[in-house]
Amino acid sequence: MKTLILPASDPATVSQAAEIIRAGGLVAIPTETVYGLGANAMDEEAVAKIFLAKGRPQDNPLIIHISCAEELTRYCHDIPEAAWLLAERFWPGPLTMVLPVKPCVPKRTTAGLSTVAVRCPKTQVTRELIRAAGVPIAAPSANLSGKPSTTTAAHVLHDYGTGGRIDAIIDGGPCEVGVESTIVDLTGEKPRLLRPGGITPEELRDLLGELEIDRAVLAQISDDTVVRAPGMKYKHYAPSAEVYIVSGSSEAAAAYVRRRFTEGDAVLCFEEELPLFAGCNPTAYGKYGDMKTLSAGLFAALRELDRPEIKTIYARCPEGGGIACAVGNRLKKAAAFRVVDPEADQ
Ligand code: TXA
Ligand code: MG
Repeated sequence: MKTLILPASDPATVSQAAEIIRAGGLVAIPTETVYGLGANAMDEEAVAKIFLAKGRPQDNPLIIHISCAEELTRYCHDIPEAAWLLAERFWPGPLTMVLPVKPCVPKRTTAGLSTVAVRCPKTQVTRELIRAAGVPIAAPSANLSGKPSTTTAAHVLHDYGTGGRIDAIIDGGPCEVGVESTIVDLTGEKPRLLRPGGITPEELRDLLGELEIDRAVLAQISDDTVVRAPGMKYKHYAPSAEVYIVSGSSEAAAAYVRRRFTEGDAVLCFEEELPLFAGCNPTAYGKYGDMKTLSAGLFAALRELDRPEIKTIYARCPEGGGIACAVGNRLKKAAAFRVVDPEADQ
């Protein structure tokens, strides 16, 4: 069986994809963050196919995607006021909320947790698909487990081929945000940020008044640690090369890389720095002066650098709040939190 490529603009796409979802198949869906690998969240067997296709550990729960905030009450109970406020402000959009789960949601979807992660994506074709299928769609990022997330239909094709490992891909063009959704856990005493994304910590604090930052956001978590978002402990987003973040000024970082550069090395930098890294195999992932281009371009650049001849990648990483928080988190995870300071190595 072949994998169908369904253009988002084709009027037949929604009904074709909805039929596949209802029949228990897998459809890669475009969202504003990254492409997801979708199946009927209420169908254990369909959900099992996601884990198999991705090579995903069974203890890593899935996000369920709904078409509007009102659907929250079907799958969650004890929904706090904060959830409705967040939904009103940021949905549809790149925000996922963790809430107490109703028993109707299969354990395979939630990995047996008492909570479920829920998101209403902005991309219209995907919300139409959820409505047409009449079920929530469980979808992790559509990359093979451990690889950088997929931000184009071509990335999804690259990971799964056309041979029918997944039933269809809806091609909605490149993802606008480019990093996965912000995850907020609303089941504790205080709202807690589990993963930074397109909705920034500042925006959340503005609305909620308070926000705890989970330690998995800031540091490497070892495999035996219990974490709130189980996915945060796994190696992520990584090309096969070793990635090192080189901090400091552009000039100091370029001097540091020049001293070390050998065959098999590559540089991942800001567009403004390309001339400084000339001769060191540089790839730019966006403009430092326009942070949104960094989030939009990060995964495509990491995928481009995922080539056997590249053994070491020196990466430049934005610091600070806003969207830089999410970009920095993904890059640091790709680098297993290895950060070198060029000023300390003259
Ligand atoms: O932008 C996104 O969120 C994309 C698109 C497709 O919507 N999806 C995505 O899914 O990034 P995934 O599976 O790659 O990442 C979901 C993360 C994982 O780290 C998982 O452990 C965590 O969410 N998660 C899922 N359910 C959870 C729960 N009940 N409590 C805490 N964390 C949860
Ligand atoms: Mg993922």
